[in-house]
Amino acid sequence: MSCCGHGHAGHDHAGSAPADPALAGLAIRPDRLLDRLEQLAAIGRTDEGACCRLALTDEDRAGRDLVVSWMRELGLEVRVDRIGNIFGVRRGSEDLAPVMSGSHIDTVRTGGRFDGNLGVLGALEVVETLNDAGARTRRPLVVAVFTNEEGARFAPDMLGSLAYVGGLPLQQALDTVGIDGKRLGDELERIGYAGDAGLGLYRPHAFVELHIEQGPVLDLEGVRIGAVESLQGISWQEVSITGQSNHAGTTPMRLRHDAGYCAAAIGTKLREIARELGGDQVCTMGMVRLHPNLINVIAARATVTVDIRNTDEARLQEAERRFADFLEALAHAEGVKIETRRLARFEPVRFDDGIARVVERHAASMGLSCRRMTSGAGHDAQMLARICPTAMIFVPSIGGISHNPAEDTRPEDLAAGAEVLLRTLVELAS
Ligand code: GLV
Ligand code: MN
Ligand code: MN
Repeated sequence: MSCCGHGHAGHDHAGSAPADPALAGLAIRPDRLLDRLEQLAAIGRTDEGACCRLALTDEDRAGRDLVVSWMRELGLEVRVDRIGNIFGVRRGSEDLAPVMSGSHIDTVRTGGRFDGNLGVLGALEVVETLNDAGARTRRPLVVAVFTNEEGARFAPDMLGSLAYVGGLPLQQALDTVGIDGKRLGDELERIGYAGDAGLGLYRPHAFVELHIEQGPVLDLEGVRIGAVESLQGISWQEVSITGQSNHAGTTPMRLRHDAGYCAAAIGTKLREIARELGGDQVCTMGMVRLHPNLINVIAARATVTVDIRNTDEARLQEAERRFADFLEALAHAEGVKIETRRLARFEPVRFDDGIARVVERHAASMGLSCRRMTSGAGHDAQMLARICPTAMIFVPSIGGISHNPAEDTRPEDLAAGAEVLLRTLVELAS
C-alpha cells in the first residue's frame, strides 16, 4: 500500500523556487560525505573488510553514538523514540510538518559501507550544506535513523520504521527475540537507546531516502540516478523440520527421516519455483541450521529461512502457495514434522509519483542520466509510504554487489546522489 490522504508533497512542485535566496546555488561537499562514510564504516569492521553492526549490538551503539555526535555538532535537536529510532531536527522558518530523510545504520553480519549509511549521512550532509550557507527551509528537516532495518538479527526487517508508522505494536516489537536468543527491548535498554519519545513523533510532509541500488540495473546500463517508484513485496518465514537422528552408515535410505535432506530439498524447490514463475520472482534460502550437525549422524532437526519476493502481489501469493504445497508433500513423503513461522510479510509498494518526478527533474538539471525503477531490497521508505508521500533515490552499486564486504559505489555517484537529495529536500521543504 502506498497511501496517503494527507499532504501532496510531490504533486505541485514544478518550478517552485526556494523562498530563501541562500537556498539558490547550494552544493554538497563530497569530501565531507566520504569522510563520514569512512568513519562510520570503521565501526564494526571485520578482518574481511566487512561492516558488522548487527542491530542493537555494541557496534550498533558505537555507530549510533557517532551519528548522534554529528547531529549535535550540526545543531540538530536529537530525539530518540521508544523503539530506538533517532531523529535530528533542523527547524524551518515555519512550524509545519517536516520533510524527513534518512535510513538505517545497522548492517547484516557481512555488510558493506554504504547500505543504509549513505541515506543517513547524505541527509546529514544536506544539513551541513544548509548550515554553511546560513539557509533556512520553510519546513523543518528531520534526519532519521531507523532501528533494525536489516532484520538480520531481529525479524522482521524494517522493524523500527514499521513500528513508527503503527504497523507493529510497540510491545510486540520490544518482545521480539533475535537469532541469539536476546530480547530486542532488553538490548535496546542495554545500549542506551530506549528513548522516551512516542512512536510516530513526526507526521512528515514527505519522506525521501537516498540508498545504493544494491542490484545491477544502474551499473549495467551506465545510468547515474534511479528515481525509485516502487518496491517489491517481501515474504519471510522460518521452516523447522523435525526428523530422526540415526547412524549414517547403518540406516537404509528407505528408513530415514532426514531433516538435512529436507533442508536441501527446500533449497532446490525454491530455485524451481523461481524458475517456473519467471519474471521478477526471486527465492532464497539464506540460513540453514542442522542438528546435531555431525558427519556421521543423520540430522534430527533443521531450521532454514525462506525469503520470497515479487513486484506483483498475486504472483508473490502464488509462489507462497506453491511452496506451502511442497512442504506438505515433503513432510508426508519423508515422515518428518514441518512447522513454519512467519517472520515478515510486506506487500509491494508504489511510491509517490510527484516526488519521483522532482528527483528526475533535479537529476536532469545536473546533467545526470536517470531512470525510473523498482527496488528489489526492502527499505524504511516502504514503511514511511504508509503515512506520507515517499520516494527514493538510488545510486549505482558496482557489479550489483551488496550484503557483501565487496559492496561498492563510485565516490562521484555517492556525491551525485547526495546532491540530488539536497535539491529534492530543499524543493519539498520550500
Ligand atoms: C533489507 O535490507 C532486505 O531487503 O532484506
Ligand atoms: Mn539498506
Ligand atoms: Mn541491507
